[in-house]
Amino acid sequence: MKRNIVLIGFSGVGKTSVGQRLAKLLKMNFYDTDIVIQESSGLTISEFFKRYGEISFRSEEYATVKRLAQNDNSVISTGGGIVLNKANLVTLMENGVVISLTAKPEVIYQRIEIFNNRPLLKENLYKSIIKLMKEREGLYDQADLVLDTSNLEMHQVIDRILTFLIDYRIQQKKAEVKEDSVNH
Ligand code: S3P
Repeated sequence: MKRNIVLIGFSGVGKTSVGQRLAKLLKMNFYDTDIVIQESSGLTISEFFKRYGEISFRSEEYATVKRLAQNDNSVISTGGGIVLNKANLVTLMENGVVISLTAKPEVIYQRIEIFNNRPLLKENLYKSIIKLMKEREGLYDQADLVLDTSNLEMHQVIDRILTFLIDYRIQQKKAEVKEDSVNH
């Protein structure tokens, strides 16, 4: 049985707030790969990029994923670039149900324009969102659930995820029972 819930998706889709809410409701631990990296390095993500560059950030991200994936009973929100390294998702999927949150570029723009500190989305925010989304086309689809949040309120996102999880757990249980009966 997979014991973690993993949230993936582009910047601004709500991974952190949804993750925190889910963790609270389900009485699970909450981790966010960016927050873990900030705490362990003592730097903001922007500072980290400036000081060490993207390649170092990606390897720190992978090390963080490997550590967090070993947890149980945790909701893990991830940075938008987690999908760039296939090993991240493979590792997270071993013990986690993966939920991908998506949103239309214009919605993402609205959500992050007020306070944008993302090092990869600097000049001409809307254009860089479109460009990065294009580069990552398909990568956020590798999940157990893909949920477009563009027209959803936070509570609706949570409702959809909970409904999905109930069904997912039932299917998992059924598969386990089936396997048991084959083996005995
Ligand atoms: C990144 C997204 C950011 C952060 C870093 C790189 C990306 O996280 O990890 O700036 O490559 O998409 P959010 O998805 O929380 O903005």
